[in-house]
Amino acid sequence: MLLESFYDPNKSYEENFQKGPFGIFANKEKLEDKNNLKFNFLGFKVNSPFGIAAGPLLNGKFVQAALDKGFDIVTYKTVRNAKYPSHPFPNVLFVKIDGDLTADIAKSKLVADKNYKEPLSITNSFGVPSSDPEFWQKDIKQILNNIKSGQILVGAFQGTKKSGQGVEEYINDFGIVAKTLKEIGVKVLEVNFSCPNEGTNNLLCYDTERSVQVAKAIKKEIGNTPLIIKISYFKDENALQNFVKEIGVIVDGISAINTISAEIVDENGRQALPGEGRQRSGVCGSAIKWAGLDMVKRLKNLREKFGYKFTIIGVGGVFTAEDFFEYKNAGADIVMSATGAMWNPYLAKEIKEKLR
Ligand SMILES: Cc1cc2nc3c(=O)[nH]c(=O)nc-3n(C[C@H](O)[C@H](O)[C@H](O)COP(=O)(O)O)c2cc1C
Repeated sequence: MLLESFYDPNKSYEENFQKGPFGIFANKEKLEDKNNLKFNFLGFKVNSPFGIAAGPLLNGKFVQAALDKGFDIVTYKTVRNAKYPSHPFPNVLFVKIDGDLTADIAKSKLVADKNYKEPLSITNSFGVPSSDPEFWQKDIKQILNNIKSGQILVGAFQGTKKSGQGVEEYINDFGIVAKTLKEIGVKVLEVNFSCPNEGTNNLLCYDTERSVQVAKAIKKEIGNTPLIIKISYFKDENALQNFVKEIGVIVDGISAINTISAEIVDENGRQALPGEGRQRSGVCGSAIKWAGLDMVKRLKNLREKFGYKFTIIGVGGVFTAEDFFEYKNAGADIVMSATGAMWNPYLAKEIKEKLR
């Protein structure tokens, strides 16, 4: 059942940031943790191997609400080295898809509207906005001062592509943000590799050599602090194998998947999200669960093949406790949800009841 989303898709990003979270996340009720089961998350003990993926928790108010509702691994929305604006409203729309968003279906135009219903798939198009570093540093520090044992904040970040910038500057930008996050006390970092690569229109994770350079530059700044990379769906097994072989010894965790890109139109066939470069946007939720599960299985095989130790974080279309266990059975060490958690603030509670 879909409850009121804690991010209101009918409001702008800025209004959500200022006035959110909404629905049950706004009631301040703290759910008591009856589990006290301790699971390992990159060397830290957590009450459950479940959390909220990068994106929906816009700031400290959202993060605190998620912690209060028993989400034990909470990812603070991807931050950057400088303030960065959001794409214009709307940023979230319901997408009509029958079944799975396979590679073939992703080539066709998908129709979006505002009638959110199950099975729920959405498109989200924000452009990875960031608040001012001064704001996010203070905001994150405040959460870290109050966080209880068994719960952990993941600091998500990415570098920023700028005009006139060279590759070295682009790579160094990742290291600067990572260092700041470590310095303010964040225990686990997650870098978004599903972002545009400098000098190309491709995603960073599809360029193994550049991904390795960026991961090494980050590791140089953060030392032993665990680093997760967030990647997109790989169609090609050889490409994934090559990527994992090179990156799997550098990083501590791989989170898969981010959204799958598709062309989004309204009922009249016109571009649904206004503005340049927004014909296509990322789709997440129910229709991409198959792809998240597929990547988890393949990452597990490759980890075994190369004798690596990285933690596998399964993401994509987790709406129920059953989905959580499907990911665990596929080989995920940790499971996270974005869309499912937004429309069900009790998802962590429901999973923990089944974990007991
Ligand atoms: C509202 C929203 C905002 C998101 N923003 C980010 C982001 O800033 N950085 C990131 O790495 N992923 C972001 N994502 C992607 C999610 O972390 C996740 O990988 C994807 O949505 C698939 O999970 P799901 O099917 O549970 O939504 C966002 C997703 C949603 C729904």
